[in-house]
This record gives sequence, C-alpha cells and structure tokens, in this order.
Amino acid sequence: MALEAWFMEEDEEDQRLPHQKNPPEYVSMDHLAGLRVLYWNLNPNKYEHDPDLDRIRQERGYSFMDLLDLCPEKVENYDQKLKNFYTEHIHADEEIRYCLEGSGYFDVRDKSDRWIRVWIKPGDLIVLPTGIYHRFTLDSDNYIKLMRLFVGEPVWTPFNRSQEDHPARKKYVTKIIEYINVTPLEAY
Ligand code: LAC
Ligand code: NI
Repeated sequence: MALEAWFMEEDEEDQRLPHQKNPPEYVSMDHLAGLRVLYWNLNPNKYEHDPDLDRIRQERGYSFMDLLDLCPEKVENYDQKLKNFYTEHIHADEEIRYCLEGSGYFDVRDKSDRWIRVWIKPGDLIVLPTGIYHRFTLDSDNYIKLMRLFVGEPVWTPFNRSQEDHPARKKYVTKIIEYINVTPLEAY
C-alpha cells in the first residue's frame, strides 16, 4: 500500500481540511523518497507484538518508543501543542511516527519549497529525515493515536524556520543535492 500525498493549495482555510489543488496534484512515493522520507505499512492491530516493527526498530536503532493519544483529555496544553506542531520547524534528529488509530497530516517541504501534504492512517509508519522542514495537523476527524520512536533518549525540540545555518539543516540540504546527482532522471 502506498501513502496518499499531494501538493497543497496554500490558502487560509482551516488547516484540518485536505487543501487539495483543483484539480488535485498527487505526489508519488518516488518523489517522497527523493526527499529522504521513509515509509512502511504495518498491521496496526498487532503493534504490541509485531516482528516487522521489531525488525525496523532493530535495523534503525529505534530503542525508544512511547504512545501519544492526541485528544484534549489526555494531553496537557493540548491547544498549544497542536499550534506548535503546525509551526514549520526542523529537528536535530529524525521524526518517526507510526499511526495506530485515527489520522492526520504531516506536511513536508520539497526541494522547490512547495508544501506536500502526507495523509497518515492506521498502519502507516513514516520517517521524516533530520533537517527537513515540516509540520503536523490533525485532519477533520480530529483524532490520532501515534507511536513515537527515537534512537536513544528522545529529544523533541523543534527549531522553527528559518534554520539555514543549523548543522542538521545544512546536512539535509547536502544530502538532497547528492541524491539528485546519483538518481537517474526517470525516477522523477
Ligand atoms: C509531532 C507530533 C505529531 O511531533 O508527534 O509533530
Ligand atoms: Ni516535528
């Protein structure tokens, strides 16, 4: 199964709406791979005992995990948190999220600085590479349960745009350019 992703119509409407262009412009998995976004589709019903998840965690060193149930009753400072999630930022590490219930949108910037909206549903495990500009919002169903993974002790600190001099950003930009240079044109 593939992810659904599209270029965003950037207007002032509610962030929880799909913001599709008219007509829609979908984004391929190859395009996302070119941005170094990783993706797996797993069985969310067996996340507690899942050899496929274990293998990914082992291969990538994701030793830490916790669960984030995004609803006002379970999250302190819910409104402020959602606001921070939707403020464009980078991290000094990967952002790894596995959707167990509900749904939401991860928006990532592509090489031309366009917003790509990635729709995450149960079973979707996504890795946003270190240094990519991104943000997150719930969709109009207003609920998501996520597993957060991390290599070692987690650090969730966001660095809001602009971060062109941040080492993580510089490294990411270099990586993306290298990827363009070694990937045949047909892949785009
Ligand atoms: C974030 C939430 C969605 O870090 O986990 O953006
Ligand atoms: Ni983030």
